[in-house]
Amino acid sequence: MEAQSANFVGTHGKEETIDLFARHVSSGKAAFFKAAGIDFVLGRREGPYLWDLAGEKRLIDCHCNGGVFNLGHRHPQIVEALIQSLGELDIGNHHLMSEQRAALARRLAQLAPGDLSYTVFGVGGGEAIDLAIKVARGYTGRARVISARGGYHGHTGYALAAGDEKYRAPFGPVAPGFLQVPFGDVAALESAVDGETAAVLLETVPATYGVLVPDQDYFPQVRDLCDRKGALLIVDEVQTGLGRTGRLWGIEHFDVVPDIMVVGKGLSGGVYPMAATCFRGEYEVVFHQDPFIHISTFGGAEVGCPVALRVLDISSDPAFLRHVKEMANLFSAGFQRLRQKHPEVLVGLRQLGLMMGVEMAHESCGPLFTRAAYEAGFLSVYANNDPRVAQLLPPLTLDRPLADEIVARADEALGMVKRIVMRDA
Ligand SMILES: Cc1ncc(COP(=O)(O)O)c(C=O)c1O
Repeated sequence: MEAQSANFVGTHGKEETIDLFARHVSSGKAAFFKAAGIDFVLGRREGPYLWDLAGEKRLIDCHCNGGVFNLGHRHPQIVEALIQSLGELDIGNHHLMSEQRAALARRLAQLAPGDLSYTVFGVGGGEAIDLAIKVARGYTGRARVISARGGYHGHTGYALAAGDEKYRAPFGPVAPGFLQVPFGDVAALESAVDGETAAVLLETVPATYGVLVPDQDYFPQVRDLCDRKGALLIVDEVQTGLGRTGRLWGIEHFDVVPDIMVVGKGLSGGVYPMAATCFRGEYEVVFHQDPFIHISTFGGAEVGCPVALRVLDISSDPAFLRHVKEMANLFSAGFQRLRQKHPEVLVGLRQLGLMMGVEMAHESCGPLFTRAAYEAGFLSVYANNDPRVAQLLPPLTLDRPLADEIVARADEALGMVKRIVMRDA
């Protein structure tokens, strides 16, 4: 279904937009992109591509907003679902019972690992993490939450408290009870988790920390530890969920069932915000005394529910997940070749399916790669909590020629990084 164009893109010129943005949205971001030499304002977007507002520059989207665009931009079935939904629905009223939220929660319960039979909806990932922590604290009656150093769960209240100091520092005291340990280190977790621990909160593959894929036995040991100490295991699948890793949920690779799972980003289909906190049925007791103790006006907005259902249908299709694995193999082989060609800068490809990180030799390489990728025609953003790594998250819908093209462009970008690093050495 073709949406009628109302000229939302391109009514303002590019220079005018940059000026308006700097004066009314963020002068800091405008200055940052100018200094980084990334003179790009998002204009038209379709499938795997982004165009500059001035129409001169096209990028292959290998950032995908952390998975928001798992299905590419404006996937026709997703756009159709939203248009149809708008024919009948609106936000709804979060105080009332809802057919759309009920249907979406049932589908999530069917597809989630284990028996995560209840869902509370939010607007974004941070809000959904906050709720996961509320459920864990409310259910266990304990306060402590252990998360991973370098992990990232959002910038809202509890999510911020679970993240790195640098994001909290300017904003004063945060909620007490939070402690970080190194990711992948079972011994550190073992000494941190105690009888006061409500939850261990982990990304399945920390994305902002540079796509760090844990050892195969890490999560089973974390699961065992949580069981022994009576703490709940909260898994953040905001980036790893919905097929990104070649399984519907990243945690499936580790044969572990979490107690609470948080989903966001891609559930929106890239067109209508939606996040979900899925948890075991027994925890619903937290809301028995006062079912209105947690509310979110826009969380689970009814108009977005059919979109999220369509996302789940597409992403859970076994053929779709097979395709993700096939494409992942192309990147794996391609980057092995690039490793031979650019050993001075390329350490290797961190990878779980199409959740990929280009690991390079030095902290300066990530920002250089982001800039070089831009020159070479693709968007790749370096990992904020480990700038040696550039995230490579293409749309899961890409085909073989595009995968080959991205590898070729990455070759070009690595060549540019290498020239700069060797010149400055
Ligand atoms: C793993 C992870 N969790 C949570 C969040 C927070 O999501 P949101 O920005 O929608 O609040 C993010 C955002 O990048 C994320 O990458």
